[in-house]
Amino acid sequence: MTAPLIVVRGLGFDYPDGTPALRDVNLDIGAGEFVALVGQNGSGKTTLAKCLCALLRPTSGSVSLEGLDTRGRGIVKQVVTKVGYVFQNPDHQLFNASVHAEIAYGPRNIGLPRDEVDRRVREAAQVCGVRPELLDQHPFFLTKGLRQRVAIASVLALKPRTIIIDEPTTGQDRRQSLEVMNFLTRLWEDEGHTVIIVTHEMPIVARYARRVVALGEGRVLLDGETRRVFAEAATLARTSVQPPQVTRFAQAMDHPAVPRDVLQVTEAYEALRGALIGRARQERR
Ligand SMILES: Nc1ncnc2c1ncn2[C@@H]1O[C@H](COP(=O)(O)OP(=O)(O)O)[C@@H](O)[C@H]1O
Ligand SMILES: [Mg+2]
Repeated sequence: MTAPLIVVRGLGFDYPDGTPALRDVNLDIGAGEFVALVGQNGSGKTTLAKCLCALLRPTSGSVSLEGLDTRGRGIVKQVVTKVGYVFQNPDHQLFNASVHAEIAYGPRNIGLPRDEVDRRVREAAQVCGVRPELLDQHPFFLTKGLRQRVAIASVLALKPRTIIIDEPTTGQDRRQSLEVMNFLTRLWEDEGHTVIIVTHEMPIVARYARRVVALGEGRVLLDGETRRVFAEAATLARTSVQPPQVTRFAQAMDHPAVPRDVLQVTEAYEALRGALIGRARQERR
């Protein structure tokens, strides 16, 4: 196995006012993973996400990004080319007067030459579906969905291998949510990015994430393959997370024909149909 991209050891984080937000977090995240961070409000998801991109430095323990220890001084310029973080609210991130300037900000800041900056802006905008004619506009005049794409483009322009996106679907309708999730899936599948999402929406987790890390009171309660984690309903309840409805349905059925770890309605349907057809055949005999 290749070395993990992100290595977290004994991570603790307290805010300056003394609020303890993370306790003894241990994680390895490898290249090409699609991970969801879940847990109730205040469980530490955003704090962990910010520690994973060095926006916050550990109070205790360590975080290393592609071998780079985030406690080091003056590492920000290196970190931004390894891990990109998209804020929960894109408006906390967008502060330039045009979409072009917004996407160019990071590449300029790490000192890339002008033509390379320009190339990266156009590439990132294209990947994110931000049309060239929007580059001269003020981000303020775009829809929320587009502002989020601009926020993602401004991170991608730095070409990080890992992209962390905080609550990508909050406040969006179903169509917009699927659009942003399908877009992240393309980055993951086609561009080979490692994707980490923070979310409250378990159907989204079930459909897209391959691995789930559940936090409760700043600690990792569960960490594993999405199916395995959703099978642990009692532990998830400690951090107010409910598995998707269809998974709960399968667990409530408690029937050998229906696996307790189904994630999709189609899976439950196929399992049940198989069982019912089998039974009907037996009865006919
Ligand atoms: N800037 C801050 N100052 C003090 N405490 C904070 C700050 N941000 C978050 N917290 C606290 O840290 C804990 C974890 O918060 P957070 O990481 O935002 O959780 P989540 O994203 O899971 O809702 C909570 O107790 C929260 O109140
Ligand atoms: Mg949060």
